Formats: sequence, structure tokens, C-alpha cells
Amino acid sequence: MATIGRAERAEDRTRAAELLRQGELVAFPTETVYGLGADATNDRAVAAIFAAKQRPAFNPLISHLANTDAVGAFAHWNDAARALADAFWPGALTLVLPRTDDCAIALIASAGLDSVALRVPSHPDAHALLAAVGRPVAAPSANRSGRISPTTAAHVNQELGDAVAFILDGGPCEIGLESTVVGFRAGAPVLLRPGGISLEQLQAVVGEIVMAELLLDAADRPSAPGQLASHYAPNKGLRLDALEPGPDEVFLGFGPDHSGSQNLSAKGDLIEAAANLFAMLRQLDQGPGSAIAVAPIPETGLGRAINDRLRRAAAPRR
Ligand code: TXA
Ligand code: MG
Repeated sequence: MATIGRAERAEDRTRAAELLRQGELVAFPTETVYGLGADATNDRAVAAIFAAKQRPAFNPLISHLANTDAVGAFAHWNDAARALADAFWPGALTLVLPRTDDCAIALIASAGLDSVALRVPSHPDAHALLAAVGRPVAAPSANRSGRISPTTAAHVNQELGDAVAFILDGGPCEIGLESTVVGFRAGAPVLLRPGGISLEQLQAVVGEIVMAELLLDAADRPSAPGQLASHYAPNKGLRLDALEPGPDEVFLGFGPDHSGSQNLSAKGDLIEAAANLFAMLRQLDQGPGSAIAVAPIPETGLGRAINDRLRRAAAPRR
């Protein structure tokens, strides 16, 4: 089981912040639910979140910031987003905004998309932790995939005690329901996930809000196939389970036996492979060759999420 620290003790908060800066996983309280946190700028640490949750797919994650001022370094504002942040931050609202060109948040936290989900939580212990880390902290709810979100440190310990370095106990979560997620289409707000801030509260600030056709269910599974449209897909065609590149193909290898244009992990480590996946796909997509051949990835552990993403990227486009 994990070490549990008490959020009211400065030395426990310092320890949690140090572990996060070292790339470890730390669970921490927010006003909505407990988050399973990792340094959002560290690809490997973010990949470890997916391994710990045993998630069969990569969903984009929320990166948590200590202050609204920090947003500009990572994402582009629009007027409606500003108004919502002024009204509801710090608090149970997540804004999905376009990534800046030099955004330091790991691509795997965006699941390869050009957007990034950001939230400034109001919980005082979360705020103190984020300020001490001094970097964005990526955190989904601290439960195993498909289970309900934890609202106490004891729940987190039952769910993930063997997978997380440290749990910061800040008592029970006040809201107990995940944050409301709002994205933007041509500057107009779109409700992506209902949550702690109600639709009426949002409408009072920005007027009408488009409901995404693509709402996610409670387990964050896409409830409509349209959700697939928002997944990152390279422009080049993808050929999976390839043992070597064909003519005019570039090769994305895995393991010691494949010397490709790029190798997801020469030592065959699936966490390293997940951490490299989106950045390497982007590089190969932008370089020479008309298609990308990808080596077989074992269907175990994070390999399932990697294969899920590769199969979607390889699927025929509509
Ligand atoms: O209250 C919460 O939001 C909790 C606490 C820990 O902050 N976090 C949480 O994270 O629920 P997670 O990863 O379980 O949910 C993230 C949600 C998902 O519905 C995901 O699809 C959406 O945010 N999301 C994140 N990035 C996105 C993006 N770039 N585009 C569209 N949706 C995004
Ligand atoms: Mg969740």
C-alpha cells in the first residue's frame, strides 16, 4: 500500500511536490475528486498514469495549474474561455484550449491532439501542492479504469495503493463529482462533459452552449462514434504489425529487433513506448515517405492502449 501523507503538514506537501518533480505518481485531493497526478511535462510520468489506471485506451488528461496566469504558457485563450475562467476559477471547470506551439505539456497528456485540457482547482491543498511543484500536473480521477471516482484518501488506497508512490490526504472531497469540461469550436463554447459546474451556471456567463454530440459516459468512454473524429490521426496511411518497411514507407519500430526510422522503445518497454508514441508519429508524419509502417506491439499492459490508438489512426477516414 502507498504511503499516506497529511495535507495539513507542510513536510508532507513538500514530499508530495518533490516526488512529482522526480516523475513519480502522487494522488492528491481536489474539490471534485482525488486525482492521480504526474508532472504533465514529463512524457514518461504521464504514460505511467495510464499504466496505473490500467486504461485500455489513451484519453486526453486534464493538466492542473496553480493559477490562471499560468495558462498563457500552454494554451491560447479566447473571449468565452476568459469569461468562464473569470467566473469559475479556481473551481470545478476544465477548459479545452488550443496548445501553444511551444507548449511544454506532454503530447501524451493531450492524446496527440492539438488541444490541452486545463483546470485551476480551488481546493487549498491542491493549490499549495501545485504552487510547490511549479509545473502543470496531469491528473485523471485516481481510480482504476471503469471504476467510480474516489473522494477519500482511503478509496484511493484501495484502488491504486500498489501503483502510486504517495497519497496526500486532504479529507473528503466537497463536490464528489468530476469537473465540467468545456471546449470551443470557432470560439463558441461546447459542453464536452457535464460536471461540478452546471449548464445553467455556464449559460449565465456565456449564453447559449453547444452540447457536444459526442458526450462521454461516466467511465469516459465515447458514447457516440463521432468521438472518434477528435482523435489524433496522422495524414499518412498507417500499416500495422509490419515486420519491415515497404517501398516509400517509414518505419516505427518496437524492441531490439527493429531498427526503424524511429523506435518506440529499443528495450521493449511499453511505458517508454507510450511516452514516445504521439511525438514519434508526428515526426514521421512530417518527414519523408508516403506511409508509416508500425512494428507489432504486444497486446499486454499499456500495449493495449497503444494498439487501440494505432488501430484508430489506421482506420479508413470518413
Ligand atoms: O474533476 C476532475 O476533472 C478530475 C480531477 C482530478 O481534476 N479529473 C478528471 O480527469 O476527471 P479525467 O482524465 O478522468 O477526465 C478528463 C476529461 C475526459 O472526459 C477527457 O475526454 C476530457 O477531459 N479531455 C481532456 N483533454 C481533452 C481534449 N484535449 N479534448 C477533448 N476532451 C478532453
Ligand atoms: Mg475518471
